[in-house]
Amino acid sequence: MHPKWACNKKILLGISGGIAAYKTPELVRAFVKSGCEVEVILTETASRLVSPLVLSTLSKRRVWLDADFTSDENGWRIPHISLSDWADALVVAPCTANVLRMAACGASDTLLGTAMLACAKPTVFFPAMNDRMWANPATRENARVLALRGAIVVDPDSGDLACGYEGKGRLPSTEAILDETWAALCPLRDMAGKKVLITAGPTHEYIDPVRFISNPSTGKMGYALAAEARYRGASVTLVSGPSAERAPSGVKLVRTVTALEMLDACLSGLPEAAIVIKAAAVGDYRPAAYSPQKIKRGSGGLALDLVQNPDIALELSRKKMPGQILAGFAAETENVGENAVEKISDKNLDLIVANDISEDGAGFMSDTNRVRVYFAEKYGLAPSPLISGTKLETAAGIFDQIGRLRTEA
Ligand SMILES: Cc1cc2nc3c(=O)[nH]c(=O)nc-3n(C[C@H](O)[C@H](O)[C@H](O)COP(=O)(O)O)c2cc1C
Repeated sequence: MHPKWACNKKILLGISGGIAAYKTPELVRAFVKSGCEVEVILTETASRLVSPLVLSTLSKRRVWLDADFTSDENGWRIPHISLSDWADALVVAPCTANVLRMAACGASDTLLGTAMLACAKPTVFFPAMNDRMWANPATRENARVLALRGAIVVDPDSGDLACGYEGKGRLPSTEAILDETWAALCPLRDMAGKKVLITAGPTHEYIDPVRFISNPSTGKMGYALAAEARYRGASVTLVSGPSAERAPSGVKLVRTVTALEMLDACLSGLPEAAIVIKAAAVGDYRPAAYSPQKIKRGSGGLALDLVQNPDIALELSRKKMPGQILAGFAAETENVGENAVEKISDKNLDLIVANDISEDGAGFMSDTNRVRVYFAEKYGLAPSPLISGTKLETAAGIFDQIGRLRTEA
């Protein structure tokens, strides 16, 4: 999943001599697959940990080594200047403790060091090292100084480390590196400083320990909204029902199972949220009684007694403060527009994203969607045109529509 505008972005990838350098061919491949062009600078140590030939094969370009510092081949005069001019973003992954130090103090005795110093584009560092090296005050201070100067320093992941220890120091996943890069490059920053709460996925309403009532929602739409909000600068909490989707990097994930749990999580997130988008497919009913033992197969049928779950959108709209924006989703199979408008007033929403789930390429289990956004009458805004495409493209269209509340309403 990559945003449309990532296509043709130019990534200058600095690879330094951490063991995680062995993962960088995958990273180059992922950037290229997203439509980016990639130039790679390898430090001397990194060139012993990962093959320059593999990296140049995957980037379809030569790679730059310290020995090329003074190269003027192929028009790349003064490589550190040309490369930093060429790039839309500089990504350093993995970033050793040493390269973090060099960046913090402006050391320019290597090609990567000099390119970092010369680069005025968004810069994202992915430190990866032994956990004690990362925890060392010297390293922390270097990370802090760089962040203060406007660079993005992404905390390493926790887990098993190549050195045999367990702790914080792992290079984040390739997908997470891409997410952070898109967040650094996103041309729109209209959600900067805003807290956005998004719900996603289905709920599971358990009948007994092994059976539940649910629906086919995958969570893809809500997860795409979370990714888009984060790219645009928001601080995002994603309240998710059971879903196999990967939470975007930098998003706070709150896992829930039942509608009641989801309601609790939403109510605790509501006071801080500027925007709430309810993309989850919450079960309307749950079994009246839960059987703690597996229900045995009997001789006849089985009648289930169901009770209504609370309506999360309604509960939130009752508690929302002036200025907070509450958006719902309407999955309809008929009279989409009419039902959407009715839902807005029934649930006191600011807007609703309506999709006709009977159409191909829309709604549950699909990678694409086709929606239209309707606004509460008080805003006097006409419904949006049809927004369609991948769920990430749809999410971008939805945030553009939310932006209309500020500019047109
Ligand atoms: C096998 C091996 C693995 C290493 N892994 C790391 C690492 O993950 N992170 C780190 O900061 N340093 C690591 N080091 C130490 C760096 O390679 C060393 O600090 C080196 O000077 C870094 O050079 P560079 O920053 O110019 O690439 C490792 C060293 C070796 C020999």
